[in-house]
Amino acid sequence: MPPLLQPKPDKDGVRRFELTMQAGQTRILPGKQTPTWGFNGTFLGPTLRAKRGDRVRMAVRNRLPETSTVHWHGMRLPAIMDGGPHQPIEPGAVWTPHWTIDQPATTSWYHPHPHGSTAKHVYRGLAGMFLIDDDHDVDLPSDYGVDDFPIILQDKRFAADGSLDGDPLKGTFGILGDHMLVNGTFGPRLEVTTERVRFRVLNGSNARMYNLAFADKRRFHVIANDGGLLGAPVEVEEFSLTPGERAEIVVSFAPGEQALLQTVDNGVDIGEGDFDLLRIVAAAQLRPAPAVPARLASFVPITVPPGAKVRRFRLTGHDAINGKPMDMKRIDEVVPAGAVEIWEVENNVYSHNFHIHEVAFQVLEMDGSAPPAYATGYKDTVYVPGKSVVRLAVQFGPHVDPRTPYMYHCHLLRHEDSGMMGQFVIVKPGTEEQVSRVITSSHSGH
Ligand code: C2O
Ligand code: CU
Ligand code: CU
Repeated sequence: MPPLLQPKPDKDGVRRFELTMQAGQTRILPGKQTPTWGFNGTFLGPTLRAKRGDRVRMAVRNRLPETSTVHWHGMRLPAIMDGGPHQPIEPGAVWTPHWTIDQPATTSWYHPHPHGSTAKHVYRGLAGMFLIDDDHDVDLPSDYGVDDFPIILQDKRFAADGSLDGDPLKGTFGILGDHMLVNGTFGPRLEVTTERVRFRVLNGSNARMYNLAFADKRRFHVIANDGGLLGAPVEVEEFSLTPGERAEIVVSFAPGEQALLQTVDNGVDIGEGDFDLLRIVAAAQLRPAPAVPARLASFVPITVPPGAKVRRFRLTGHDAINGKPMDMKRIDEVVPAGAVEIWEVENNVYSHNFHIHEVAFQVLEMDGSAPPAYATGYKDTVYVPGKSVVRLAVQFGPHVDPRTPYMYHCHLLRHEDSGMMGQFVIVKPGTEEQVSRVITSSHSGH
């Protein structure tokens, strides 16, 4: 279980978190040492937790031999604090972003984002959870490590000597591993002590899609997507997550029983293979827990105003959007603060997904049909099946900065690193044209 990182004592009400990126060795396979990277340890990172309204300040120290960044995936914050490729942390340096948490309760995460090296840095182990609470907490399990557990899913390949194998930048998808890790553990087992348990599932893999189900086909409730709680729980037998996506589920257990969480081959290029993920053992006596509430959050759907701007993004091959590979110096889109827009993502070939920094979106359509009920909440990352169009209603935030871009990209890290990424800025409404003109002339000037 990743430890909860306690913030430093706060006199001024600011919660200060310290993260150090470091290299080391981790025993993942029996009797072998794997060279890995981690935050405050050798592999993965601690779980951060904060509440809506909290002021947070991070100190991120880079003790790696390479420049990296730390991106707060799912966080709604000013672009300069976002930790994308424009906020590099040189070896030996400390980066100290700060912001006020202003979004509904959710499960977000953090990971490096240096352009061209994200796949490698994440694959080596740099990733962690960032949980956000708010005051309207309904009666859901929320005792970290007791009835509320992070489940970070990652697939790896190992060489005979125990080192991580495979080139995250080779082949169509980079890494599709054959060893499944949960929270960095191979062959994990979890003992639960309550009748109902909440799992916050993160797909932290480079490319693999998981189709999650229990071996006994038990039913359970999806209660949240990437960006927060659903209005009401959705009962399912299985659900899928592509890289970067999160979902929260609540599962019921009977005393003394065992359950096995698996990923099931769904015939999709990035979802091939059946694998066991996590064995869960229920204690002989379980503490009673309330039923999943029928209403979870006062969920406000994103309403698209008439005449909303529609932008179209074509994903082709593995290295470009709308025919253009990522260019750190090019701003692709200029968006007015607070806008609600329709973004259409078109995919001509094999599987991709699409992540937008800073925003919350809802999926309007996946290839002409409504998304599955369990994926109708606020999201920031969505699967884009081959030969399909996904339509999103995107709600942009208030943080104006015409000079610092946010990213949108395929979260299959091999594609992101190869150039399937673009940049947008959020500007004061009414200044879009002016900003676009300045940007175009300064870019063509180089
Ligand atoms: Cu999870 Cu642009 O990132
Ligand atoms: Cu992100
Ligand atoms: Cu892709």
